[in-house]
Amino acid sequence: MPKDTLSVTDNRTGNSYEVPIQDGVIRAADLRQIKASPDDFGLMSYDPAFMNTASCRSAISYIDGEKGILRYRGYPIEQLADTSTFLETAYLLLHGELPSAAELDAWVYNITHHTIIHENIKKFIDGFHHDAHPMGVFVSTVAALSTFYPEAKRITDETSRTNQIFRLIAKTPTLAAFAHRHTVGMPFAYPDNDLSYTGNFLNMMFKATEVKYVPNPTLERALDVLFILHADHEQNCSTSAMRAVGSAHADPYSCMAAAAAALYGPLHGGANEEVLRMLREIGSKENIPAYIHRVKQGEVRLMGFGHRIYKNYDPRAKIIKHTADLVFDVTGKNPLIDIALELEHIALEDEYFVSRKLYPNVDFYSGIIYEAMHFPVDMFPVLFAIGRTPGWLAQWQEMLLDKEQKIARPRQVYVGSTVRDYMPIEKRT
Ligand code: ACO
Repeated sequence: MPKDTLSVTDNRTGNSYEVPIQDGVIRAADLRQIKASPDDFGLMSYDPAFMNTASCRSAISYIDGEKGILRYRGYPIEQLADTSTFLETAYLLLHGELPSAAELDAWVYNITHHTIIHENIKKFIDGFHHDAHPMGVFVSTVAALSTFYPEAKRITDETSRTNQIFRLIAKTPTLAAFAHRHTVGMPFAYPDNDLSYTGNFLNMMFKATEVKYVPNPTLERALDVLFILHADHEQNCSTSAMRAVGSAHADPYSCMAAAAAALYGPLHGGANEEVLRMLREIGSKENIPAYIHRVKQGEVRLMGFGHRIYKNYDPRAKIIKHTADLVFDVTGKNPLIDIALELEHIALEDEYFVSRKLYPNVDFYSGIIYEAMHFPVDMFPVLFAIGRTPGWLAQWQEMLLDKEQKIARPRQVYVGSTVRDYMPIEKRT
């Protein structure tokens, strides 16, 4: 009968150890018993960028990167994108189960009635330079919300946590839209509670002089689907930031500002913005081979390609391609789609990409849809952040309720100087 253990022999000492294996992992702390001498600190594992280290046990999203599978709380992403709504999916992520009709009504009501932001936040946004990147404005205003809700510090109080969760999911579209209106010099458009979550967001973004903004139902639904696709993705860079800051017991606004800051990076949520810039730079299909050549030379990266976890087609990219067709029926085709499709076609047959298992990720096509819907390019990472908000909050809450979690504090391997004496400046060469 095979045992669920790992036998390790330390060749420095000849000692053997047996380490339990549970759920396919060993506990790194079990390595500490392995010592070269009695005063040795004990063996540690070294894993820059957490390539092979699980930092938590989580029941929120499941990814099989080899097979291209993504599920939220067990539900395939394809089914949620097809039939759920963003707010229902947010409920699922946070509560673990799909809501009943009454639970969903209450949930939607609560989110809808927290969309307004304090007038002072508007003044704060007005202080930004006219060309401030909306993601910078978003990160700062999310952080600033913590000063308006000091009770948010009570992270062990479930009622307080729930209120902050309502507020964050409700107010992120308002902050995002206000950041945009500021950069284009348009008056802020207030939330309209008659509209759906995404319908209202489109209203706050694009309302001009009309008395009542009427969102196009296809675009409203497309945006809802895009938000569903971005809602969670297990322990990615920004979620890890959310958990790490949360583990120090900071309030959820401060944690989410940190998560959004991580998302801003071009290797993470900023990639959708970079994809658009890249497609514009390529300009036409004839220029694709030369661009691929530059990628293979290591001069540039093919943005929107590759993923730490997916070594197969990102299931979200497949759904987005279908959504793009529906959006283009309304908006007209974004000509960049032809360059993107050809780029994908060429890359997927090229040995460089095939051997490294580089496939389009969620960001490859999302920007093309956003642009067709008239979102400016620098709003793309902000749209990602709105979609990811419920996932960040679900992961934050799961971390807080997990008895095994403590303040996140990795070890290091010190490679600097050994002890030496301070040298007065006149004696330094
Ligand atoms: N273009 C060209 N080569 C690439 C790309 C790319 N987009 N991605 C990876 N590679 C190559 C690397 O050069 C490396 O090749 P090598 O083995 O010859 O050195 C190999 O593939 C492995 O790449 P790593 O950088 O080690 O993979 P890692 O898991 O660390 O990076 C990442 C993942 C950051 C997503 C990377 O693929 C990338 O930079 N992609 C472009 C940016 C992007 O689209 N980011 C969005 C990710 S999805 C998201 O955050 C929502």
